[in-house]
Amino acid sequence: MSDVIENLVRPNIRRLKPYHSARQDFLSGVLLDANENSLGTTAPTDGIALNRYPDPFQRVLRERLAVLNGVSPDEVFVGVGSDEVIDLLVRIFCEPGQDNVILAEPTYGMYRVAAEIQNVEVRSVLLTDDFQPDVPALIGAVNDRTKLIFACSPNNPTANTLHREDILALAGVRAVVVVDEAYWDFSSAPSLVAKIREMPNLVVMRTLSKAWGLAGIRLGYAVADAAIVQWLMKVKPPYNINALTASAALRALDNQKRKDEFVRNILVERAWLSEQLSAIPAVRMVFPSETNFLLVRCTDARRVYRTLAEQGIIVRDRSMEPKLENCLRVTVGTHEQNVRLIDAMRTIEP
Ligand SMILES: Cc1ncc(COP(=O)(O)O)c(C=O)c1O
Repeated sequence: MSDVIENLVRPNIRRLKPYHSARQDFLSGVLLDANENSLGTTAPTDGIALNRYPDPFQRVLRERLAVLNGVSPDEVFVGVGSDEVIDLLVRIFCEPGQDNVILAEPTYGMYRVAAEIQNVEVRSVLLTDDFQPDVPALIGAVNDRTKLIFACSPNNPTANTLHREDILALAGVRAVVVVDEAYWDFSSAPSLVAKIREMPNLVVMRTLSKAWGLAGIRLGYAVADAAIVQWLMKVKPPYNINALTASAALRALDNQKRKDEFVRNILVERAWLSEQLSAIPAVRMVFPSETNFLLVRCTDARRVYRTLAEQGIIVRDRSMEPKLENCLRVTVGTHEQNVRLIDAMRTIEP
């Protein structure tokens, strides 16, 4: 399969001689190789050597994420958010103006944006009415220029988990299957990380932006066959993960208990919010959620959106997306925020 993956990679990326950075070979010693400020830093922070370039291979962090996911460090790639992983995958595999990616829409918007920035064709296959992948249509959309198929599970913005067997049905496709598990911590479904050794064309993306409460540090990662990780390492900017981000991520990963507490609280709030919203006249239905947000079908989404905004409550209007007529996406907040939302919603005429 690594041959198959290699053949999917753009020829110029196969030929590329990557940038060789100073810190790949030596992380300590008398460091006079990288034109840093050897005297120190103007922003001393927690003993982190901010005057030094960070480890380009993120050795400690990848080791830690590998343990967390039960894989080996060479099966982990770390990006500036999952958004960087998405962008790099498109740039590694898709020849602008020639190749295509397949999306199961409505879904997270960055897959399309990353492809369109690269002038890569997006083949959109709508989810079924119960927001599941239309497997025959997805496979039917594949041609010999298809490089990536994105599946987001649990899916943003529909909030449901995609059927595992539907994703696994793509194993035989000659393309890379990217499964985005950004919201996995909030779901009851098993992760697909365990499948990467059976399915060498599978990339599972995770992020610290959601359950771990670290959207501000920009850290996402991919778990995949080492061959795919090597391609990602080859094209990434040499020092993509900065020292502050790496340090915060490592401290967070030692604090898994706090993450689990957050998840438990969010699940309690999600159930409460869902029940309350369902009883509101301006709400037609609240979709089941396996995420930290709710998809809410209103009688008039635009009007609800505007009325909430006037009261300083900001939600996301998804009503222009296919199959999401009159739908708003609402993040589960603190209990106080959720009460404010419900109070505001009660004042809106149906
Ligand atoms: C499905 C999905 N994937 C990825 C991301 C972005 O993750 P990151 O913050 O790691 O770039 C989001 C953010 O909303 C998302 O909804």
